[in-house]
Amino acid sequence: MSTLITGIGELTTHDPEHPGGRLHDAAVVIEDGLVAWTGLAADAPAADERYEAEGRAALPGWVDSHTHLVFAGDRTAEFEARMAGESYAAGGINVTVEATRAASDAELERGLIRHLEEAYDGGTTTLETKTGYGLTVADERRSALIAARHVDEVTFLGAHVVPAGSDRAAYLDLVTGEMLDAVADIVSAVDVFCETGAFDETETRRILEAAGARGLATHVHGNQLGHGPGVRLAVEYGSLSVDHLGFLTDADVDLLAGSSTVATVLPACDLSTRMPLAPARQLVDAGAHLAIATNANPGTSYTSSMGFAVATAVLQMRLTVAEAVRAATHGGARALGRHIDRPGKPRVGELTVGARADLQILDAPSVTHLAYRPGMPLTRAVWHAGLRVRG
Ligand code: NIG
Repeated sequence: MSTLITGIGELTTHDPEHPGGRLHDAAVVIEDGLVAWTGLAADAPAADERYEAEGRAALPGWVDSHTHLVFAGDRTAEFEARMAGESYAAGGINVTVEATRAASDAELERGLIRHLEEAYDGGTTTLETKTGYGLTVADERRSALIAARHVDEVTFLGAHVVPAGSDRAAYLDLVTGEMLDAVADIVSAVDVFCETGAFDETETRRILEAAGARGLATHVHGNQLGHGPGVRLAVEYGSLSVDHLGFLTDADVDLLAGSSTVATVLPACDLSTRMPLAPARQLVDAGAHLAIATNANPGTSYTSSMGFAVATAVLQMRLTVAEAVRAATHGGARALGRHIDRPGKPRVGELTVGARADLQILDAPSVTHLAYRPGMPLTRAVWHAGLRVRG
C-alpha cells in the first residue's frame, strides 16, 4: 500500500540532498510504513492513494525525547506556591512518588494514555518516557512495563531522588543492583538526576557504570538547579544526552560541542520553574548537537506540547525556526539513538528514504507559523509509521 502526499507548500525533510533540508511545492510517497520518495510534486510517482496538502507545510513528526508520564496525583498547589515566589527544589518528586505507589496499574495506564493522546494531537510521533515515580523494585518494574506497552523508548530513572524514609547507601545499592536488574530487560536506557538534593558526582558515576555494565545507554539530568558535574559526567561516560542545562559554564558548552552527547533543552520546564533558560543559542553556535523536548511531568513542566517548546525556543532562546524544528525532530531522534536504523526500529526525525514515515501537516504555509502563531493548534494531519492517525 502506497500513499502520495502532494501539494506540500513547504516540506522540511532534513535530507542533505535538499538545500537547507527543505523543498517547496513538494510531495512525499509513503510505502510499507517508510518514506519511499520525496521531491518536487511535479515529479511525483503515482501511488495507491493520494492526500492533497493544498499548499500547507509538512515536516517530520515531533520526537519528544524527555518525558515523565507514568505518574498519579496532582501538584497544582506546588505550582501555585512557585508562582507566588517559592523556588523549585525537587522536593515535590516524593509527593508524586507517594501518589504513584498508591495508584492501581489501570489508573497509571489510563493516565499515561490520556497524556500520550494529548501529545499525539500536537504532532508528536516518537516519545520517550521515564520511570522514576515508583522507586521500589516492584513500582519501578511496573512503571517500566506499563510504559513499554505504549511508548517507543522507556528509560529507567530509579536514580530520581532517594525516596523519603530510605537509607541513602542502601538505596544506592538497590538502584545499581536489584532494581536495575528488574527493569534491564524492559528499558533501553538509564537516567540519573545529578544535582544537589538528588545524586552527587560519586553516586552518579556509580549509576552510569552500573548501566554501562548491563549494556544500557545513559542520559543525565544535569545543570538544572545550579552549576555542577552533570555535563562533564555525561560527556565522559558517552551518555546519549544531558538534559536541562540552565546553568552552564563556557567549559560545559565546549565539552558538549566536542562530543556526540546531545544537549537537550526543556524550554517549558525553564518557564514553569522560573529558572534560567538553557543557552540554546550558545550551544548551537558552539556546534553542539541540540534537542528540544517537553519534559512533560506533573512537577516542573505539565505540558506535552512540542509546538509550545519550539515556539519558546524561538521566541525566548533565540533559535531560528529551522534550528528549533530540527532540534525537536532530528535532535530528539539523536538524543534517543534513533537517528540511525535499529533492528526493527527504522530511524525517525527526518523524511529521508527509508526513515519511518512519521509526518505532520500544519494548518499553515510554513513552519515559521509555529513561532509566529504561538499556542495555536496548528497540527492538521499526522502519519505515524505510514498510517494516518490524525486529521
Ligand atoms: O526533569 N529534575 C528531575 N525530574 C523532573 C522533575 C520531576 C518532578 O518534580 O516531579 C524534571 O524536571
